[in-house]
Amino acid sequence: MVRTLGLTQLTMIGVGAIIGAGIFSLAAAVARDTAGPAVLISFLVAGAASLCAAFAYAEFAGMVPKAGSSYTYCAAVLGEVVGWIVGWDLLLEYTAIVAVVAIGMSGYLDFLLNAVGLHLPTWALGAPGTGDGHRIDLLAVVICLAVAWLLTRGTRTSARVETVLTIIKIAIVLLVIVVGFTKINTGNLHPFAPFGLGGAFTGAATVFFAVFGYDALSTAAEESVEARRKLPKAMMLSLGISMALYVLVCIVLTGLQHYSELNPKSGISSALASVGLSGLANVVAVGAVVGIVTVTFSFMMGASRLWYALSRDGLMPAWFGAIHPKRKVPHRATWIIGAVSALLAGVLPINAVAELTNIGVLLAFMVVCASVLILRYRKPHLKRGFRCPGMPVVPVLGILFSVWLMSFLQWDTWVRLGAWLLVGLVIYAAYGYRRTRQVMPGDSVDLDALDDMSDSAEPTSPGPAPTPTP
Ligand code: ALA
Repeated sequence: MVRTLGLTQLTMIGVGAIIGAGIFSLAAAVARDTAGPAVLISFLVAGAASLCAAFAYAEFAGMVPKAGSSYTYCAAVLGEVVGWIVGWDLLLEYTAIVAVVAIGMSGYLDFLLNAVGLHLPTWALGAPGTGDGHRIDLLAVVICLAVAWLLTRGTRTSARVETVLTIIKIAIVLLVIVVGFTKINTGNLHPFAPFGLGGAFTGAATVFFAVFGYDALSTAAEESVEARRKLPKAMMLSLGISMALYVLVCIVLTGLQHYSELNPKSGISSALASVGLSGLANVVAVGAVVGIVTVTFSFMMGASRLWYALSRDGLMPAWFGAIHPKRKVPHRATWIIGAVSALLAGVLPINAVAELTNIGVLLAFMVVCASVLILRYRKPHLKRGFRCPGMPVVPVLGILFSVWLMSFLQWDTWVRLGAWLLVGLVIYAAYGYRRTRQVMPGDSVDLDALDDMSDSAEPTSPGPAPTPTP
């Protein structure tokens, strides 16, 4: 693999993965039901929490600049069981992300269909409970299955296509901000926090969905120039740029339309249409669909590769991770993820699936922060391209922020996570525990491998995988 990606391209990849359904869809849903115009505060709080975890992620990325999931690194530091839990948790998280983005896209697609006079039957317009007569979000189901089909055919979006789509997405967001600001009615911004500060904090636990994605950058590690230094910088930059855009979009969104009238399915376009900017509303809907489609691709692909890695390492039966002989993709894992994300997207409201994602991400963030902290004391001399500042305060803050945000999530979300982790532990006890001892020498990852990699100069080709493979 040739190392060609510089800081600008890496930052673009980061922004491409961060900006998605979170701002296009969740912002309006949260503003309407939970936070009002104070959704702005929700984004700032979520951004601050994510920043602490981003510092920890950046230290990992700067230590082992290789494509690989957090599960590998957490296993290295905290042992195989914790590594498995993180891997199993990320599997749920990635699958739920695909579902949330598909629901977001479905809202904007429906907006466009209506604009050309096509109307889906009411039963197909959304999950049960999201509106009168709604039974299933048909478009979201179709999107999940279509992406799975394309991926099993071996379809990939090239870095160039992704860069173009990210530029379109940023251009659309800037257009919304510039034109939107001229039409703001400041009266809509009062009362600023109709549900109190508590509402804004509860909203933060949901819009947290919008402020991560930079971890996807680690998959670009093997193609980046001076990955150890550039990757952490790109993470910070992409989060900073996205946050600046989010804050401005929140002001425009809640300034254009009273929070109580926002449309939770196609929030930004509907707000623009409400002030007579129908043409721009359609352009934004097209941009939203085109701009966030890559997020579904990258996370479904990430989930299938993670499944493949878990099977390869003996934590799950090899059958699931089998690679298609012709297309060279883990086709079974991809179809399963496609089907599960379609199910989630079809029958659950966007907030519920976003919460499911967030609880998984927050759990992974906690473990990553803890791992970075522990590794700093256990292996202080490892060469680190980036050192998390303010040790140990920042990772501890990252852990506390995560626990605090998790405490705002609904009881149902906790039950779903608990059930998922229980199933994971049963699989580990019944299968993974014995199997990993057959396919791997002892613990899944050897910390000394990190030592070796950190001592070498910037490699010109991918180094050895941190996880010993059978
Ligand atoms: N942050 C990503 C989004 O908002 C996952 O779609």
